[in-house]
Amino acid sequence: MVDDTKFLLLLLLLRSSSLCSGSELDIQCLKSIQQSVIDPRGTLKSSWNFSNGTNGFLCKFTGVECWHPDENRVLSLRLGNLGLEGPFPQGLQNCTSMSSLDLSSNNFSGPIPPDIARQMPYLTSLDLSYNSFSGSIPENISNMTYLNLLHLQDNQLSGPIPVEFNNLTRLTTFNVADNLLSGPVPLLLQKFDAYYFGGNQGLCGTPLDKCPRRRRWRIHIRLHRINDQSSIGAAIGFIVGFVVAFYFPHRFIFSKRLRAYVVRI
Ligand SMILES: *[C@@H]1O[C@H](CO)[C@@H](O)[C@H](O)[C@H]1NC(C)=O
Ligand SMILES: *[C@@H]1O[C@H](CO)[C@@H](O)[C@H](O)[C@H]1NC(C)=O
Ligand SMILES: *[C@@H]1O[C@H](CO)[C@@H](O)[C@H](O)[C@H]1NC(C)=O
Ligand SMILES: *[C@@H]1O[C@H](CO)[C@@H](O)[C@H](O)[C@H]1NC(C)=O
Ligand SMILES: *[C@@H]1O[C@H](CO)[C@@H](O)[C@H](O)[C@H]1NC(C)=O
Ligand SMILES: *[C@@H]1O[C@H](CO)[C@@H](O)[C@H](O)[C@H]1NC(C)=O
Ligand SMILES: *[C@@H]1O[C@H](CO)[C@@H](O)[C@H](O)[C@H]1NC(C)=O
Repeated sequence: MVDDTKFLLLLLLLRSSSLCSGSELDIQCLKSIQQSVIDPRGTLKSSWNFSNGTNGFLCKFTGVECWHPDENRVLSLRLGNLGLEGPFPQGLQNCTSMSSLDLSSNNFSGPIPPDIARQMPYLTSLDLSYNSFSGSIPENISNMTYLNLLHLQDNQLSGPIPVEFNNLTRLTTFNVADNLLSGPVPLLLQKFDAYYFGGNQGLCGTPLDKCPRRRRWRIHIRLHRINDQSSIGAAIGFIVGFVVAFYFPHRFIFSKRLRAYVVRI
């Protein structure tokens, strides 16, 4: 895993240094975030001042960590607990070398972008906890194959944990507690403690309680039983009827033609 991380760092380094416009894109990224986010305390408005365009000026902004202090290349964004609101920030795909995003403990709302892995394919850490994100957890998160940490707790996310999360083999820290999630816990995530799944009415399976048996399954079984019983009943009825009719044909069959038929059998 250490080797993998080194490889990733090297990859990001080469990728961004080979792009001449890399830092220009990073500036665009932060401008776009600043414009798309509601910032009642004015933290980003005052700290993120783009008028000084010197090398590394971004690196002094609140919440911005750079790869190198003299280079406008964002390594991570830590925007936790700044009172930010509105939908998921826009323009993050232009922070092309970013490996970590923390939006925790704000009041962001609306869906998590369904193409989040295309926007930030190299994230190792994604923290969206303690916000008001709603809708389902996008399957697309499963394509963020470098993720070590995924925190989604204390939002209003609903629906299942996508079974594709079985692909997130590097995850070491995972939390979806206190949402509105339902359905079974994917196999790969069953190694995490029940605590990290708590406060969701509908989640089930290891490490939580067993999933309830499906209703349709039970009805199916019951129908099967009824079918079995009735076909056995019909068979017994047929045999008894046949035997009785064979030995006492005069009692039951009054037509001569039918009697001849029964005797022949
Ligand atoms: C940004 O900084 C410049 C000085 O470097 C200042 O004149 C300007 O008012 C600042 N802008 C904001 C929005 O604070
Ligand atoms: C830009 O920022 C650098 C580093 O903080 C500082 O030395 C320089 O004076 C600033 N330039 C302007 C025009 O504000
Ligand atoms: C990324 O930056 C480019 C060029 O700076 C800009 O044209 C584009 O709109 C930006 N993309 C997003 C999603 O903000
Ligand atoms: C979060 O935003 C919602 C509206 O989107 C608002 O009703 C709620 O009071 C806000 N919560 C906090 C803690 O600011
Ligand atoms: C999910 O992410 C991949 C990149 O890993 C992208 O190619 C794909 O289009 C994304 N899916 C959606 C629905 O955007
Ligand atoms: C994204 O993930 C889906 C499901 O996990 C997979 O089928 C698809 O090939 C992935 N796309 C990329 C570009 O990795
Ligand atoms: C992700 O998992 C699905 C099955 O859940 C598999 O079909 C797909 O190939 C996997 N994608 C990657 C990129 O590993």
